Amino acid sequence: MDKRHDQVQEILGRAWAPDSWQQQTAVQQPEYPDAAAVASAVERLSQLPPLVISWEIESLKEQLVRASRGEAFLLQGGDCSERIEECQTDAIVRNLKVLIQMSFVLTYASNKRVIRVGRIAGQYAKPRSSATETRDGVTLPVYRGDIVNRSSFTSEDRQPDPELLIRGYERAALTLNFIRSLIGGGFADLHHPENWDLEFARDTPRAQQFHDMVHSIANSLQFMESILDRSIASSTSVDIYTSHEGLHLIYEQAQTQRVPRRDGWYNLNAHFPWIGNRTRSLDGAHVEFFRGIENPIGIKVDGKISGEELVALVKVLNPSNEPGRITLIHRLGALEIEDRLPGLVSAIQKSGQDVLWCSDPMHGNTFQTDEGTKTRSFDAIVEELKKAFQIHRRMDSVLGGVHLELTGDNVTECVGGARGLKESDLSRAYKSAVDPRLNYDQAMEIAFLIADEMSA
Ligand code: PEP
Ligand code: CO
Repeated sequence: MDKRHDQVQEILGRAWAPDSWQQQTAVQQPEYPDAAAVASAVERLSQLPPLVISWEIESLKEQLVRASRGEAFLLQGGDCSERIEECQTDAIVRNLKVLIQMSFVLTYASNKRVIRVGRIAGQYAKPRSSATETRDGVTLPVYRGDIVNRSSFTSEDRQPDPELLIRGYERAALTLNFIRSLIGGGFADLHHPENWDLEFARDTPRAQQFHDMVHSIANSLQFMESILDRSIASSTSVDIYTSHEGLHLIYEQAQTQRVPRRDGWYNLNAHFPWIGNRTRSLDGAHVEFFRGIENPIGIKVDGKISGEELVALVKVLNPSNEPGRITLIHRLGALEIEDRLPGLVSAIQKSGQDVLWCSDPMHGNTFQTDEGTKTRSFDAIVEELKKAFQIHRRMDSVLGGVHLELTGDNVTECVGGARGLKESDLSRAYKSAVDPRLNYDQAMEIAFLIADEMSA
């Protein structure tokens, strides 16, 4: 205990700068062959205009405070890893559409504002379990995401390429530019239920209930539009924030700056960066980088963290206990959550730390099929979510958000759901480069189930 306390004091006593993380151990970073080329790319990256502004970041933080108190709800979702080559009109539209439709379902059921945060416009760097990959006796650097290297298995493509930092940033900018235009008015058709693709709901046990909910949502939206005398989509109330794992630290550092008339440093390449489960070590470079930025931040935690370590981590990352600053995203697995979550919640409660709790029911429920395909079962995802709601309720705590890997596309990556996807269906449309995502039907079905829990 004392040792941990001393460590926290030592970290908090250090001077921070955007590059002070370089003095600490940085895991999960690629090894570039040419340091001068990296320096040049990072320098050019840092000169480009920011993707987001501090005003938006602070406004998200205020909304997260409300979610932590149960007055709003965070819906965070999107691809496991974005692809530079898949920055395409249809894909972006579909991903936003599913997020917005889910948020309407949640708002309708709970009467709470839903804060939409995409895993989008920068979710390009992935933590991996090994630095290399071997196929047929050939060993190459592992694929670490599209801002680092390319996924095809050739030595040229697997060589980390610093120019990809710039390509990724530019694609994130294109994505965000399109998002900003779309939310400015391109989603008017969402208010008509015939434009919702809910065929799957017919196969669920509660088809009628889902059907009625969608019609009521449409009616409410039309009612609101009549009162406002304009489309809801063209009002500024439909906003979407961006988030990604802040894994690749030279990329994160490059856009970390001071802004006029505000204290501190902002990471201006996303509203809401998070620290991944593999890089959350108290004395590591990621925690060092994150502790100095003003953005609201997420911390992913699995069942290996102790309550005491979690409290120390939150202390280092939020010494002034600023509300809205920390979102704890637990990803414990349906089998472990009952064992692990109560201890974490009670440690945070005892410490008096103000956090927003969020459930990621995806990353603790991944398994491999006999053919070696990575998948997740819809039932396990739902089970973890339900338990997360129950445990927080039971402990007088608030589950204020969910974090999902999903796509508006009709992929076959997770098994189960109303359409009963089986392992033998996975090869039909498995497109993810890393983790399996919920498809459109599965994501909407989950939204209806979360809505049930929120109104419980
Ligand atoms: C992810 O969100 O894609 C991820 C790698 O999660 P975690 O850090 O929780 O394992
Ligand atoms: Co993932």
